Amino acid sequence: MKKILHIISSPRGAESFSIKLGNQIIEKLKATYPGSTVTERDLVKEQFPVLEEAHLTSFFTPAEQRTPEGAEAARHSEEAIAQLMDADIIVIGAPMYNFNIHASLKAWIDHIVRAGLTFKYDENGPQGLVGNKKLYVAVSSGGIYSEGPMQANDFVVPYLKFMLGFIGLTDIEVYRAEGLAIPVIKDTALEKAFNSVVIN
Ligand SMILES: Cc1cc2nc3c(=O)[nH]c(=O)nc-3n(C[C@H](O)[C@H](O)[C@H](O)COP(=O)(O)O)c2cc1C
Repeated sequence: MKKILHIISSPRGAESFSIKLGNQIIEKLKATYPGSTVTERDLVKEQFPVLEEAHLTSFFTPAEQRTPEGAEAARHSEEAIAQLMDADIIVIGAPMYNFNIHASLKAWIDHIVRAGLTFKYDENGPQGLVGNKKLYVAVSSGGIYSEGPMQANDFVVPYLKFMLGFIGLTDIEVYRAEGLAIPVIKDTALEKAFNSVVIN
């Protein structure tokens, strides 16, 4: 029995391939771990604010010294970090937009990457503080990036692997629904992605 956190960052709702692939991963997780619970966080429907000065000030002010406005500015970040820490397994849906992640996912990341809370520096360099969790990433893209000439232009997977690894989420499995805009390939892209999902 696991606590699963599903992070959604597609604006396309029921039509979204990254959401469908994320849901497929979750179905297989639930079959592997009966009784698991799923918390869904839709970053497009409930967006995290772009970081402003008030957020940065509050992040670097101890909680007991924050003004009421400062506490409010830190609220999104602290709720998101608590939700992340509480989960055993995280499934992130990551549609490719302009070769990168959707802005809503970047905004969430900017609120969960916090010095002293999710990472720290010590004599050995940076150390992630979000430990012992499995991360699945469901990527969707019009083109193909797992191999071939466009591989170097994928800024979704390398970024997510580095960034989430930086805060300690190093146990990462990536699944792709790709070629969704390529004739013929698109017809079987989702089914192929579904079939590729293996839970160990
Ligand atoms: C504004 C926009 C930008 C996109 N940029 C890319 C891109 O750079 N590379 C790519 O392969 N597909 C791109 N696509 C296609 C999406 O990745 C594809 O539609 C995918 O299914 C989106 O994920 P979703 O179905 O979960 O929303 C773009 C689509 C839109 C609407």
